[in-house]
Amino acid sequence: MLKDYLNKVIQGDCLEVLSTIEDNSVDVCFADPPFNLEKRYTSYKDQRPAEEYLQWCQKWLGELVRVTKPSGSIFVHNIPKWLTYYASILNDIAYFRHWISWDAMSNPIGKTLLPAHYGILFYSKQPKGFKFYEIRAPHRKCRVCDSYLKDYGGKKDQMHPFGALVSDVWTDIHRIRHNVRRDEHPCQLPIPLLERIVLMSTDPGDVVLDPFLGTGTSAIAAKALGRNFVGIEIDPEYVAIAEDKIARVHPSTYKGYYVSYFLGKIQSVRDIDAAELFPPQLTSVEKKKMRTQENGDETSSGVNGHKKSQSKPKEKIPTLF
Ligand SMILES: C[S@@+](CC[C@H](N)C(=O)[O-])C[C@H]1O[C@@H](n2cnc3c(N)ncnc32)[C@H](O)[C@@H]1O
Repeated sequence: MLKDYLNKVIQGDCLEVLSTIEDNSVDVCFADPPFNLEKRYTSYKDQRPAEEYLQWCQKWLGELVRVTKPSGSIFVHNIPKWLTYYASILNDIAYFRHWISWDAMSNPIGKTLLPAHYGILFYSKQPKGFKFYEIRAPHRKCRVCDSYLKDYGGKKDQMHPFGALVSDVWTDIHRIRHNVRRDEHPCQLPIPLLERIVLMSTDPGDVVLDPFLGTGTSAIAAKALGRNFVGIEIDPEYVAIAEDKIARVHPSTYKGYYVSYFLGKIQSVRDIDAAELFPPQLTSVEKKKMRTQENGDETSSGVNGHKKSQSKPKEKIPTLF
């Protein structure tokens, strides 16, 4: 029963645990399975014949779709090679939304293009009515001269005061490079990656399930953002590390809104929350109009009308497709 697993790390085989969870009960599933690349996990053997690996993947992918609510989504992280097979499985049982390309350099393997991204498949359970929020990330700036990396030409005053809407190519979230920030785990994901996915696809109080929890990244992101989690992990050592880290998580907020931070700066915020936290500025044309009207007619309603419409808070409802 899902309620028995809420906000816990369950030690066990994900297929066994998933089989005890009700249909249509979880808001979002995120899976980062072993990549079958001979990674040195403590107990799991990461090397199976491809056919056997894919048959196993088909089983847990089917289970993830089954336990997801009709309004929910399924995210799967892997190398592009395996994602091409996952997509053909998921296309029959869910609805393709995006292939998110996460820019994350790996090692040269010789006589190929250098692999420089992982993919995150994003599927919804239903074709319409699934939960989705647009995300904003800060405008990119040069570290040395602090000028914007993108040329906004003469339209700088129309830029969003916080940052741009996030696309399906994520270059601003990095792999964990420093060993001091890493657990004893061969492929731990960065928390901001999971926080972006959670902000994008859930509301506070929703349930995020991860069948391959590792050392707890998705559960940490869910808890920091006021969501519930269910984590499944086969390895008792990773379970212990995850539980210890989850117990120390604090809410990740700014002025009462859930946001994701990296190195002390907001890295992801929902567009609807950004509208309240960082209200739009007047453009230079509007400022000029305002000055002209102030000089000419102090009773003019045009400028005030503009102000009113700019500050009107947006309704907090998910975008429905
Ligand atoms: C790629 S890692 C996940 C890392 C995780 N995203 C993190 O950031 O820590 C895959 C994890 O799946 C676990 N695993 C392998 N087979 C499993 C199974 N049948 N059921 C549950 N967990 C399993 C491994 O022990 C490993 O920790």
